[in-house]
Amino acid sequence: MDNAATFYLAGHETTANALSWTLFLLSEQQALQDAMAAEARAALSVGADDPDLPERLPRLKAVLDESLRLYPPAPRFDRQAVAADRLGGQDILPGDIVSVWPWLLHRHKALWDDPDVFDPERFLDGGRPRHRFQYLPFGGGPRVCVGARFATAEALTILAHWLAAWRFAPVRGREVRVHGLVTLRPAGGLPLVLSPRAA
Ligand code: HEM
Repeated sequence: MDNAATFYLAGHETTANALSWTLFLLSEQQALQDAMAAEARAALSVGADDPDLPERLPRLKAVLDESLRLYPPAPRFDRQAVAADRLGGQDILPGDIVSVWPWLLHRHKALWDDPDVFDPERFLDGGRPRHRFQYLPFGGGPRVCVGARFATAEALTILAHWLAAWRFAPVRGREVRVHGLVTLRPAGGLPLVLSPRAA
């Protein structure tokens, strides 16, 4: 029962938030959104049910990666210590909860250039080398997200279809705020204005 519930929760809420944040970021940068729409249309021209579709979207993948950096749908995850340890100068006692915060790591000034800037180029060739645990949208270690590859393929497929068909624009004057409790959601939803793209 617990495993089934985890799959339902971890499998939809996370990807839904990733899609919302990605479309929000693209709505703020129309030229980049146009480029993503062009990549999506070229990729979809091979066939809408092409199983290799995600592989044909390298720039959209970089946009998704950058979106997961700025707005990791799982902003925090916890571990409970089974034994005494010492971490960052702190004593850890058995039973202590240790929280790992991708949201903070992903925006740490010591780890990233201009950490608050949306710049998908950092995930394309030539980006600054990264420590293997400085970017953790899907966690790490033995309990890394089992759905990571599926989620990436799913998100890219959905984004490709939507971006090919629609233009997404912000609702002017509406403030976008984050709500980070279990997942990182837009507080009060994240309405965007859709208009059809010319064929
Ligand atoms: C963008 C989408 C997703 C993100 C950001 C995400 C993130 C994460 C993270 C950070 C963890 C590790 C939690 C921890 O270490 O305590 C995790 C675990 C997990 N995720 Fe995902 N996830 C996503 C999509 C999915 C999907 C689509 C599925 C299933 C179809 C899924 C199923 C799971 C399961 C079952 C676990 C627990 C694994 C274990 O404890 O062994 N996730 N996810």
